[in-house]
Amino acid sequence: MTTKLRAIRADITSLAVDAIVNAANSSLLGGGGVDGAIHRAAGPELLQECQSLQGCKTGDAKMTKGYRLAAKHVIHTVGPVWQGGNSKEAELLASCYRKSLELAVNAGLRSVAFPCISTGVYGFPAEPAANIAVKTVREVLHANPGLEEVVFCCFSAGDLDLYQRALQ
Ligand code: AR6
Repeated sequence: MTTKLRAIRADITSLAVDAIVNAANSSLLGGGGVDGAIHRAAGPELLQECQSLQGCKTGDAKMTKGYRLAAKHVIHTVGPVWQGGNSKEAELLASCYRKSLELAVNAGLRSVAFPCISTGVYGFPAEPAANIAVKTVREVLHANPGLEEVVFCCFSAGDLDLYQRALQ
């Protein structure tokens, strides 16, 4: 089956997919932005499970259940903080997308939604981030045809526009 790759504008906590990805920090103990929204919507059981994970390195990912979310699972990944572009930020961001999808594939999941990792508080410029996201997801999907749908879930109209262009 060919994977459907698409961009939408939505609140990621509303999506009924097999897994939503969380743009977390290395503690995995919650924060602001999309991380805060996911923890609020999933309920306190998510924090409890996250407390057992002992954090996560930048560029890596760990999976939990989705609890009160419509999504069955949450894949928590830690994007790089933008430091000007010479601190392996692009490689680390690509690694977030790759590792998240590898977890999904290994768990037999079929639909995954990503937020625009690192482009909020962590300051990664939105346009190169969108290009890295699309390129990396395409590469992983090419090697793993089991995934049916990957959604880029944009919060702003500007981000949706960038993804639609990157997907063309
Ligand atoms: N649904 C989809 N996207 C959202 C939502 C939502 N409900 N809320 C925000 N976004 P950010 P980062 C978008 O700052 O840059 C946290 O405190 C937002 O518009 O959430 O990776 C963590 O704990 C932006 O496009 O994540 C870390 O400490 C994107 O999500 C730190 O922020 C990412 O913005 C991670 O920073």
